Amino acid sequence: MLITNIKILANVRESQHKLRGAELGELPVLENAFLKIEDGKISDYGPMDATPDRKGDLDASGRIVLPTWCDSHTHLVFASSRENEFIDKIKGLSYAEIAAKGGGILNSARKLRETSEDELFEKAQNRLEKLIQLGTGAIEIKSGYGLSLEGELKMLRVIKRLKNSSPVPIKATFLGAHALPEEYKNQREAYIRLLIHETLPILAKDGLADYIDVFCEQGFFTPEETLEICEAGKSFGLKAKIHANQLSISGGVQAGMSVGALSVDHLESIGEEEIEILGKENAPMATLLPSAAFFLRMAYPPARQLIQNRAAIALASDYNPGSSPSGNMNLLLSLACIQMKMLPEEAINAATLNGAYAMELENEVGSISRGKRANFILTRQVPSLAYLPYSFGENWIEKVFINGK
Ligand code: NIG
Ligand code: FE
Repeated sequence: MLITNIKILANVRESQHKLRGAELGELPVLENAFLKIEDGKISDYGPMDATPDRKGDLDASGRIVLPTWCDSHTHLVFASSRENEFIDKIKGLSYAEIAAKGGGILNSARKLRETSEDELFEKAQNRLEKLIQLGTGAIEIKSGYGLSLEGELKMLRVIKRLKNSSPVPIKATFLGAHALPEEYKNQREAYIRLLIHETLPILAKDGLADYIDVFCEQGFFTPEETLEICEAGKSFGLKAKIHANQLSISGGVQAGMSVGALSVDHLESIGEEEIEILGKENAPMATLLPSAAFFLRMAYPPARQLIQNRAAIALASDYNPGSSPSGNMNLLLSLACIQMKMLPEEAINAATLNGAYAMELENEVGSISRGKRANFILTRQVPSLAYLPYSFGENWIEKVFINGK
């Protein structure tokens, strides 16, 4: 297939690396371009006057083509929505208060226990299809609502089924350490032993997870526990992606740095020391989840300061029933620009190429590059690239292509 007369072809790269600091502002584009797709992959692109075949199969005059979103942090598999807590929050209860009341993650865990594997799969598949229509072309999905050996394995098997049935690449993350389950309320160590000595060996043997995650937070898991669990994951070949510094300065960034995490995610509560660490060359990806800050009415992570200090930033949705009941990456792009003062180029890079790096999918997706999957968004007629985050809430997507289809 040949797409011609593309107004702006965005994020075009032949050589690439993880984008740090000011590099995030460099979004290479081609104006008046063509894009050629063969066998589900990008086979060529270039300026219009370089193609001998100027007719093409699709005329994209006035429209932009950009890579699909790479959403590197979601909890897409869950049993049901939690709008009751939404009401509690409107009435003034905090996230921590709702969690202490047995709501929050434990509420989702109770519901998950009562839901069959097939039903979980169908619901998640449905959500995934909607996300693809909204432009998501690669996704990471976590367990963490099972909170028992069987429950966690059930979630991970659902993710494996999604991997096998979905046209987009999926990465699975084991988040058994999401909260202490009710049955283990006074037995933290026993629960951690269950995760490390029983659950991990089984899921590793069955190839059910790519990464390991811990909710490193006051009232959840300490930095020491986070390290212990992540080191255990590492011994089974699972790199860490850590929930760090969402509600407080939790030590999660330091833990992530010392265990060689692929990413540390959230970072709403962060100090000079953490910002400095994240600016180091070998620091994990700083994955920001502005929809969670938006939904919980919290302060946004300091994206500008992170960029100034040379951090590598990715943007992800955190899609989950408690703190971000939306996986809409288009809206997230607007939040990043409006609330965190990221420039449109920075936000697009963070939600595509850097998101791909945060899932180790950078050779497959995240940019318009020869040989990568033909996963891209074709917009409607729009005046400019900046119009995309500017026109928040507008559906400016005409069509989403996955593997060229
Ligand atoms: O990423 N922070 C912990 N986990 C989720 C929330 C999960 C829930 O409330 O169900 C998050 O925000
Ligand atoms: Fe999360």
